[in-house]
Amino acid sequence: MDAQKIRSDFPILQGGNLIYFDNACTTLKPRQAIDAQSEYYSSYSACSGRSAHRLSKKADEKFSRSRETVAKFIGAKSSEIIWTKNTTEALNLVAHSFDFSQRKKVVLTNMEHHSALLPFMHLAQKGAITTDFALAGKDGTFSSDAFSTAIDKNTALVVVHHTANSTGCPSPYKEITKIAHENGALVLIDAAQGAPHHKIDFKKEDFDFLAFSGHKMLGPTGIGCLVAKEQHMQKLNPFMLGGGTIESVSLSEMKLLQTQERFEAGVQNYAGAIGMGEAANYLMKIGMENVEEYEQGLAAELISAVQSIEGATIYGNASSKQRSALLSFNLKNVSAHQTSLMCDSLSQIALRSGLFCAQPAMEHMGAPKGAVRASLYIYNTKEEIRIFRDTLEKIAKLA
Ligand code: ALA
Repeated sequence: MDAQKIRSDFPILQGGNLIYFDNACTTLKPRQAIDAQSEYYSSYSACSGRSAHRLSKKADEKFSRSRETVAKFIGAKSSEIIWTKNTTEALNLVAHSFDFSQRKKVVLTNMEHHSALLPFMHLAQKGAITTDFALAGKDGTFSSDAFSTAIDKNTALVVVHHTANSTGCPSPYKEITKIAHENGALVLIDAAQGAPHHKIDFKKEDFDFLAFSGHKMLGPTGIGCLVAKEQHMQKLNPFMLGGGTIESVSLSEMKLLQTQERFEAGVQNYAGAIGMGEAANYLMKIGMENVEEYEQGLAAELISAVQSIEGATIYGNASSKQRSALLSFNLKNVSAHQTSLMCDSLSQIALRSGLFCAQPAMEHMGAPKGAVRASLYIYNTKEEIRIFRDTLEKIAKLA
């Protein structure tokens, strides 16, 4: 993988000295994804699936090709992809559409992002479901025992991250899926941080539902997917209906579509979906195995860089071999926001600081006031990590 060649595709990296280490929040966008979106608006800006004119036909063709591309990227069938606004909407879609009439228990973990926790905690507050939590060790990683205890024959659904946004470490999702299925429960994988960085095969892993976003994998904001096995999608009860969701309607009756389009009410984010398709194509051309391997090299360098700073505390399992190039940490006597602001002002390094929308996780790992997070991607380099290390050293010496 040639990071320098990849960098030349990113307009924001041309000229200037930006070191962008906030990829878990959102990634930068390559020219190819930007152009695909803007081509929709400049050349065939029409509704898909509605009108008979040529622009609409072109929008149809591009929109459905993007669905096929994104399906291929995640190892699913095109008929299993439901477009959503983002991962959050995809997780909420399952929370509000899943049939909890037979089994009411949902198992989550204390390392989930708020977008996985809150929809289900809200249902539990209203008495519609019950929740139970598998608890991580102090370093934010799990043994599969935590799940064998929490998942039982009353469990309807297990909601778990592929990769934690606070540590970059994966959950034991293979074992979790096995335990869930042995108990007759389904799994919903939050792959917002997994899909951009790892090769995921929805079918091979035997996942039931999986959510991910376009903007964390080089695509536009405002577009994401819920991937759902067809037999489970059939049982979801849509909570939002409108144009494009029905076969026929009279004032006394309506017949919903059997396809995933019954979950895609109203005019869709065509430009976003087309941009996400192009981003998926871009990553597939590089090869997700190559992305993983490159990130492992960056991860090792990043960890030793931060470990070399006196008084730095790292959250998560620093020795995990499977982690993404993402690291949360604090410097002694400097607040997370201060560190982040100083990295920006001294060396134009973009980081995220705070609780990362994962307050229970950060509290559990001993960072109730938050931490600094550096999250790297395919265009980041070891040279940038060296500048980052030197900058942290300067900040630590000032403290
Ligand atoms: N969920 C995103 C993050 O972790 C926004 O930064």
